[in-house]
Amino acid sequence: MNIQEIRTNPFDDQKPGTSGLRKRVTAFQQPRYLENFVQSVFDTQETLAGGTLVLGGDGRYYNRQAIQVILRMAAANGVARCLVGQGGLLSTPAASCVIRKHGAAGGLILSASHNPGGPDGDFGIKFNIANGGAAPEAVTEAIYRRSREIERYRILAADDIDLERIGETRLGEMQVTIIDPVADYAELIETQFDFDAIAELLGGGFRMAFDAMHAVTGPYARRILEERLGAPEGTVRNGEPLEDFGGGHPDPNLAHAAELVALTRGPNGLDFAAASDGDGDRNMILGRDCFVTPSDSLAILTANHMVFPAWRDGIPGVARSMPTSRATDVVAERLGIPCYETPTGWKFFGNLLDAGRIAFCGEESFGTGSAHVREKDGLWAVLAWLNLLAVERRPVAEVLRDHWRRFGRHYYTRHDYEGIDSAAAQTLMEQLRRLMHGLEGECYGTHQVGHTDDFRYVDPIDGSVSEHQGIRFLFEDGSRIVYRLSGTGTVGATLRVYIERHETRPERLEDDTQQALADLIRASQAIADIAYHTGREAPDVVT
Ligand code: G1P
Ligand code: ZN
Repeated sequence: MNIQEIRTNPFDDQKPGTSGLRKRVTAFQQPRYLENFVQSVFDTQETLAGGTLVLGGDGRYYNRQAIQVILRMAAANGVARCLVGQGGLLSTPAASCVIRKHGAAGGLILSASHNPGGPDGDFGIKFNIANGGAAPEAVTEAIYRRSREIERYRILAADDIDLERIGETRLGEMQVTIIDPVADYAELIETQFDFDAIAELLGGGFRMAFDAMHAVTGPYARRILEERLGAPEGTVRNGEPLEDFGGGHPDPNLAHAAELVALTRGPNGLDFAAASDGDGDRNMILGRDCFVTPSDSLAILTANHMVFPAWRDGIPGVARSMPTSRATDVVAERLGIPCYETPTGWKFFGNLLDAGRIAFCGEESFGTGSAHVREKDGLWAVLAWLNLLAVERRPVAEVLRDHWRRFGRHYYTRHDYEGIDSAAAQTLMEQLRRLMHGLEGECYGTHQVGHTDDFRYVDPIDGSVSEHQGIRFLFEDGSRIVYRLSGTGTVGATLRVYIERHETRPERLEDDTQQALADLIRASQAIADIAYHTGREAPDVVT
């Protein structure tokens, strides 16, 4: 075996964000950049030596090159076995499934999620631990600390291996298994839902589309929706994974999936449409002439958990990220189960899921999932909705309206101010932190500020504490404004402002969201002096 020790030194910008290390492709193409991160993982995660590593990504530009480098480094660092998705592909939820099923010591997932790909786009890498979930802060911090003092990395001198041929090969002493990226996941997901009922729905004139946005979910959706459940060929659109996602932005939201949205509009609109993002963990759910917000989606799936075979006998609890609307809290209260509020980022659900405290969890940012894996799961959400509709047999819009009638409606919006100056963003947040308590009791229109705080989370399982997770203005009438800075951006800073109001008067339920929140939106801009700090009169993206 020809193992090389290559001298290196730290980079200044390898601090992981909300979802691992995410940078421009050009950053990753610098010599030693990827290697430093990967070696820092091997240096700190001792169970990988002699253990199994799962490896795959969303197929974006640089995926294949990175996989070859990581394989040679894994072999040089004593990994016993590496499971790699064919073609270098594994959706994020599938990687989680494979780690769990095969008892791997961890996994490396290559993705920049919904960020654009291609030579000028983004790339990313994150480490998942043995439970299949993204590494918790203690682990990512250890990796980061290591990357600050790294002096050498280890790599095997060897040729590239063939990522297309399913089966076993060797790289030095390491066994490499190229696996079907869909098989384990498809087998698991079938245990969660009533596939017979869904197949019957799809065979009975129900019209739907799934947009894979030329990202990783194409092969998964084709196998499961078309081949297994019998949806007509062509149900899956843009199903071929491409390195640059066909030039698109693989972010399933009303702006970036506009073509899909158009298919659901008007009297001839589809009954149902859905999309997923670059790495397959996000979801967007549409019905004819309607859109289900991710916050409502979690609440509705929670209220209807008994239609899912995996949860027929009840659910122990649910969780949502702090900025996600409180629609699920209302349902949980009615069901008499706890609803946990965690910081932004899926990894905070990990301990609750491992401890069996929750069945479902979700984030407003198009993330929904369950205890079947330790990542959010786009196709899980799509199949959950199909399962629900197969039982309900009525339009999505009606399911939604009925839910609001029973639980009230949480009008909810997120305003993003993108690419703002990082220092200005920090100043804005610091000022808010200083001012917030002094604003308690102030009135904005009819809304009086009750409590304000900087969200702090104490993990109920391991007691770990996460500070400064977002500034919250909680109003006396139950409305809420939350401010936080994005942890996933690659250029400047992004300020996210989350605004919500709970409406329980049935006669007021049909309003337009921005309209229904107009006075709180104005308050959100005034309280933080957004125009002054950012120079922006209006948000760049409204969700
Ligand atoms: C964003 C979302 C967050 C999600 C993360 C990874 O992070 O807001 O909910 O977990 O992407 O998909 P942010 O950019 O806000 O830090
Ligand atoms: Zn994603």
